[in-house]
Amino acid sequence: MSALLLLAGAVHAQVVKVEEAKFFAGDDAAWQKPGFNDSQWQTLRLDKEWDLQGIKLYNSFAWYRLHVVIPSSLKDKTSGQLVLNLGPIDDCDETYFNGHFAGKTGRHHGDPEGYDGKWQKERRYLVDASWVRWDRDNVIAVRVYNGQGEGGFYKRAAFIEKPVIADYVSLDVTKEDDQAKALLTGIRKTGGKLTAKVQDGETGKILQTKNWNVKIGGKKSFTASVPVKGPSRVVFSYKDDNFEQTLEKSFCNPYILTPAAPATPRYNGPLVFGVRPGSPVIFHLAFSGERPMTYSVEGLPEGIVLDKENGVISGRVLKEGDYPLVLKATNGKGEARAAFTLKVGPRIALTPPMGWNSWNCWGTSVSQEKVMASAAALINRGLADYGYSYINIDDAWEAEERAADGSILTNEKFPDMKALGDWLHSKGLKLGIYSSPGDRTCGGYLGTLDHEEQDAKTWNEWGVDYLKYDWCGYRKVFDVSPDHSTAAYLRPYVKMQQYLREQPRDIFYSLCQYGMANVWEWGAFIDANSWRTTGDITDTWESLHSIGFEQQAGLHPYAGPGHWNDPDMLVVGKVGWSNDLRDSRLTPDEQYTHISLWALLAANMLIGCPIDQMDDFTFNLLCNNEVNAVNQDILGRQAHQDVVEDGMQIWSRDLYDGGKAVGIFNLNDAAMPTLLKGALEKIGLQAGKVRDLWRQKDIPTDATYIIPSHGVLLIKVNP
Ligand code: GLA
Repeated sequence: MSALLLLAGAVHAQVVKVEEAKFFAGDDAAWQKPGFNDSQWQTLRLDKEWDLQGIKLYNSFAWYRLHVVIPSSLKDKTSGQLVLNLGPIDDCDETYFNGHFAGKTGRHHGDPEGYDGKWQKERRYLVDASWVRWDRDNVIAVRVYNGQGEGGFYKRAAFIEKPVIADYVSLDVTKEDDQAKALLTGIRKTGGKLTAKVQDGETGKILQTKNWNVKIGGKKSFTASVPVKGPSRVVFSYKDDNFEQTLEKSFCNPYILTPAAPATPRYNGPLVFGVRPGSPVIFHLAFSGERPMTYSVEGLPEGIVLDKENGVISGRVLKEGDYPLVLKATNGKGEARAAFTLKVGPRIALTPPMGWNSWNCWGTSVSQEKVMASAAALINRGLADYGYSYINIDDAWEAEERAADGSILTNEKFPDMKALGDWLHSKGLKLGIYSSPGDRTCGGYLGTLDHEEQDAKTWNEWGVDYLKYDWCGYRKVFDVSPDHSTAAYLRPYVKMQQYLREQPRDIFYSLCQYGMANVWEWGAFIDANSWRTTGDITDTWESLHSIGFEQQAGLHPYAGPGHWNDPDMLVVGKVGWSNDLRDSRLTPDEQYTHISLWALLAANMLIGCPIDQMDDFTFNLLCNNEVNAVNQDILGRQAHQDVVEDGMQIWSRDLYDGGKAVGIFNLNDAAMPTLLKGALEKIGLQAGKVRDLWRQKDIPTDATYIIPSHGVLLIKVNP
């Protein structure tokens, strides 16, 4: 059978790989039976959605039948079971093995409990060894439901393998009242040893070790706890008596590295701001420091005024040119000045946009009230004093239907968009909105198709300053057209760009089409200000690793002032894509890595958590002026990946003052002692004056630093 491939073709194979399957669009319970004759069905690869393999955009049920010879070398005496490791499937599935029900994930639209799409979720099902036809053909029949867009298996081949301990025992680690707590649960009776190692959070030094003998299974679980104080980390590991592998999970107390801002005024914002001649200027002077504070500006051109109380400059400048200004802030403790250039010309977005977006927290449950709560907190908590200014509403603001004259309307959750825009502008903030070139957005709301010009005008009336334009529903138009050239990918984006440019205000143009047709190669030419380079981010290390470290490598030549690569929004603080919020599942070290990498990448810095619910740790991540200065550096050079070596990665970028920002990342699961001098030599840098940007202090290069697992040392090397 062509659909199967035995790894190494070996009789002693430990894993069997299946790369293809028989496929049929439709639904019939008889297709789960092993004896069903599927020879007339189409053969599809498992590493690409069905729509990308010649099946016309198809949103409903379809079946995959995977044929696989399973060698007796996969018999596992300990467990008496096998694992079907199918990878992620869009959106939901129900899986049968030789006619036996093996498992299901997600729910289709007809399900009595309602639809629940489980994108990106790995499917891993245990089946009984007694169901296997050893050394003969077996059938894995998968009933897949796709609700919208591309569907089916999409990421990789399927694997048949022996179970591992993680299939039977789960280890969860939480924190309760200064105790790190491990919870072991098992779906079968077993036992082993649990160990806890308490380490110093920053240096990795082991402070304490504890062991427990464990029996679990059935209804019996096991809990153990150890006290954690300050920046300490606890690594729990469980070794089962019957399995070779060890389960390991750690807990780290969030530790704050950013020193508190001084009470005296300090400028933390960008050093340039671009505006087109005649477009409204809205700019808040980003000074931290004790309030009350008064502001003044030297050199303001005609047409621009300053609100001395809230530090917002506004107005219009008609004449092109560079206007050098001196921004000044004064409070009871002192005064600060910053040299700044207002650049009136064809180019906007001279540094990457900083602000907030509703999607990663609220998903489709966003409302005007929630948007205003984050906007107010952006000011009250002081994030606006670090340059955050865009307040972007993502999907789900749109009404069900357009008005009689065809204009787009907001739904009941957004009673007055124009008033919201005016309110934001009065505070020096900017309004962002979301739409799609298709008839529908990704969330199924109205898109702009055939109303592009009208919608651009409406947004201008509302005072929109940022548009995220998401491909999604346009797929339907694209799929039925015979033209799939790069020009066809550009078409809907060029169209909207033209209407945006006709508006009498600057609208940051953010393309969202997940990197198709190498968007970075043409985004700048169609006057886009940023373009998403990848699919959607989520708050896991796997997602951060893939989007940040794999998919951004090599994209540095395409970014620059006015046009940026966008690796998606931030997943720090509380996220959840719904009303159901949780703390980001990234560990504190992974969050330092996330923000450091986004700063190096000159990425859009769009906060994805409700700002009114932000904790001090998240504030410390987002409001480190020296880290943000890397992101906002006016040279606009995105970092390149210089070193990939044994789980270490080094990324660096040149800065306008002749310095270099360097991130030394540890992608391994264990802490990595690093001689700084040695690491710098790898990228051809002689040891110079080095500053640790998170801790904001100068550090020696001839010392060894412990970079925690999934953590980073972010430095600036000064000339
Ligand atoms: C897509 C985008 C997300 C978000 C949603 C909204 O998935 O990539 O960032 O805008 O659509 O439906």
